[in-house]
This record gives sequence, structure tokens and C-alpha cells, in this order.
Amino acid sequence: MRHSLLPEGLPEISYGIRQIVSKGFEREALGYPVIWENIGDPVQKGLQLPEWMRDIVAEQIQDNSTYGYCDSKGLPETRQFLADRTNSYGGQQITKEDITFFNGLGDAIARFYSLLSNKTRVLMPSPTYPAHTGAEKLRIGENPLTYELNPGNGWLPDTDSVREIVQNHKEISCLLIINPDNPTGMVYPKKVLLEMVQIAREFDLFIVADEIYENLVHDGQMVRMAEVIGDVPALVMKGISKEIPWPGSRCGWIEYYNRGADEQFNNLCTRIDQCKMTEVCSTTLPQKVLPGILDHPDYETFLDERKQYLTKKARLLKERVKSLDGIFCAGARGAFYATLHTNETFSLSDVNHNVLPEKQQDLFKSWTADFDGPSDLYLVYFLLAGAGVCTVPLSGFNCHIPGIRITLLEQDLDTFEHMLDQLMHGLESVFNGKKSLIQA
Ligand SMILES: Cc1ncc(COP(=O)(O)O)c(C=O)c1O
Repeated sequence: MRHSLLPEGLPEISYGIRQIVSKGFEREALGYPVIWENIGDPVQKGLQLPEWMRDIVAEQIQDNSTYGYCDSKGLPETRQFLADRTNSYGGQQITKEDITFFNGLGDAIARFYSLLSNKTRVLMPSPTYPAHTGAEKLRIGENPLTYELNPGNGWLPDTDSVREIVQNHKEISCLLIINPDNPTGMVYPKKVLLEMVQIAREFDLFIVADEIYENLVHDGQMVRMAEVIGDVPALVMKGISKEIPWPGSRCGWIEYYNRGADEQFNNLCTRIDQCKMTEVCSTTLPQKVLPGILDHPDYETFLDERKQYLTKKARLLKERVKSLDGIFCAGARGAFYATLHTNETFSLSDVNHNVLPEKQQDLFKSWTADFDGPSDLYLVYFLLAGAGVCTVPLSGFNCHIPGIRITLLEQDLDTFEHMLDQLMHGLESVFNGKKSLIQA
């Protein structure tokens, strides 16, 4: 090339959730099964969409207009439907002009970060869902500024320390909140949300709230940003990948709150919309079916059944983890994830690969020759090679507390318990010093 194509010093962008997959394939190629706990796709984990939902999609497919482009910001009737829903929570009141559709929330996230001035920073939680970390890192060329979620307090942040970070870093103009949270499954209580909003108000910041799991709180109550935001500007991100669930539809949207409260924030919203215009629009079909699905008389029951099932699996997991020494489960109250975290002193020497049968041991050794990564990635390799469970290291979520994330997605309870058996077998050999060989 005549010129270098990428900017100098561009940091590596990695996506821990998917990177581990090739290792799982290696294990499968040796004839050993893998339980895939690395990805949050309910459909892949066996969730069957109810027939009434498929009927709505099938009916719309017969409508010729679903094959065409739609308005740049999205179908007006669907945006109106969503605005009415937000308004019904009794706080923030928006119109259909305050909503813009994207090809999945991942698309919205990438667009939002790409538009910010490189002088400013988004303060984000640690751990964080990697799409946010990756987009911020790509933009600023260094690790994002973070506030800690505390596993000792159900993974809630300490708002005093958030305030201190904001005070000390004048470059911060945005607070990211993921509620319910991925990877921890933590759900924000109203009090903490109000404190975060107050920090934004005090320091003239805006809030980005990722609420893609808003209707998947299975232990506790969801308080939406719309209810607590008051007069502070915010971008609230939502989507259907997890909820309906239809991740393959690539459909998500941003809601603009208090757009008129700040000129710069208003300009950012306008810029987001202008960029959408240059791409023409987002996928039409999912927007077309969305009101019919969310308003269907059976939709609430569908969600309730999913939530009950998630509660059951979270309880089973928490019960089993109690028997382990030095690894704990906090959070797991919303979304469909659970993290198991260790003490910060956890190190590679805590993992004894000699307990593995020969072939699995060889596999593990081939993955870890000259290993210089984080200790939780080492643990993930061990659990995958030895127990056949593919988890994700918390370090992949920009988190310094070692741990792993699993999902509560498995639809068949026996299969879920089998996954737990395998996982416990692997974890017991590391944390409880069990010497027995793992049977894959
Ligand atoms: C917190 C969070 N935000 C956004 C997304 C992206 O969702 P989408 O499928 O709409 O791109 C995910 C997907 O896992 C997520 O967990």
C-alpha cells in the first residue's frame, strides 16, 4: 500500500467471548464433547420461539413492504409504539423523533463511540460488555477509564468512588451504565441509579444506559433509566436480541432523553441520525413485527416463564458454588449470565493440570505453552480441556478480578445440571484440591 492503512499505535481489539471458540473446536476434533457456555444466544441454547411469534413474522413476510427500505430512523409506527411504552413508565416523556433504529445494538454502540471527540472519555464499569470497551479503546487508542463493580457488594459500584474518578478526570463527559449487567447479572437498585444520575447532573455529564436486558430481571425489580433520569441528558440503548429473542434479526435502537437540555448533546443526537441517513436505514422486517409481538396477550407469560426458569438455574448454580473454596457467585439476578469470581491472589500455580487424563492434559499444555496471559484465562483453558465446559474469562470483560462467566441459557434442566456437574468437577480440582481425574 502507498500509505499505512491503520493509524499508528492502534491497540489490539479482542473479543474474549468468541476467541475461545477455536480451542473448543480443537477439543471436539479429538472426539470430546464441548458444552458451549461462552455465548449469550438463547436460540442456540435451545429456546423455541412460540408459534404465535413465528406466525406474526410469517404473516409480515407476506407483506411486500417488509422487503423495502424504511425511514432512516426506523418505521414511524414502531418508534411511536416504543415511545408510548417508555412514556408509560411515568418518567421521561419522548416522541418518536427521539428514537433511532440500528442493525443490532452492537451497531448502535459502534456508531455512538465513533462519533465522540477524542478529547473526551466515557467512564465505564469494570467488568464491561466488550463491545463498549472495544469501541472506546478503538476511539481513544488506550484502555478506557473504568469504575469498579464490587463482587463483595453483589457487583454494585461504589458511587463515592465513581464521583471521585469523575472529579479527578475532567475529560470524562459520559457515564456508561449496563442494567441489568453483562457479565455479572447484577441489577441496579433505584437508589444507586439515582446517585449515578446525580453525579452526571453535578458534573455536567450525560448517561449512556444499555438496557438490552430490561425485561429479563428474574430476581428483583427493574428500574429503568426513564424513571430516574429527571433532567439529565441520556442515550438509552435497547434491542430485541435477548428479549424476543431474535439475535439474528440485528435490531436495536437508541432512545434520546432530555435532548433539548444541552446543545452539545442535541448535536450528538443529530449527528447519530445523520450517520444513519448516510447508511439509508436499518433492517425493516423486525421493526415491522415488533409491536405485534410485544403487545401480544401471551408475551408477558412468555417472559414470566423464561424468568422463572432463569431463577431456578441461578439458584441451582449458587447452591452448588457454596461447596467450593475460594470461588464465589454474586449477582446473577438479571440478564442470563452468572459470574464466578476468585480472590485476586488466584494464580496459575493454583491450577494442577496433572489431574487431567493424558489427552486432555496434552491439549491443555499445547494451549498454555509459554502462557503469559491472565490467570482466569488459564482457568478457562483448564475447564475447557479437562471438563469440556467453554466459559469466558472475566479478564475478557476488562476486569482485573479473576473469574469466569457462564450462561443460564440451557433450556433443558438435566443438560444444565450436567454442565454444572462438569464445571464443579473442574472447579473442585482447582479450588478444593480434589485429586480425582476429571472424566470428560
Ligand atoms: C449488554 C449488551 N449490549 C449490547 C449487546 C448487543 O446486542 P445486539 O445483538 O443487539 O447487537 C449485547 C449482546 O450480548 C449485550 O450483552
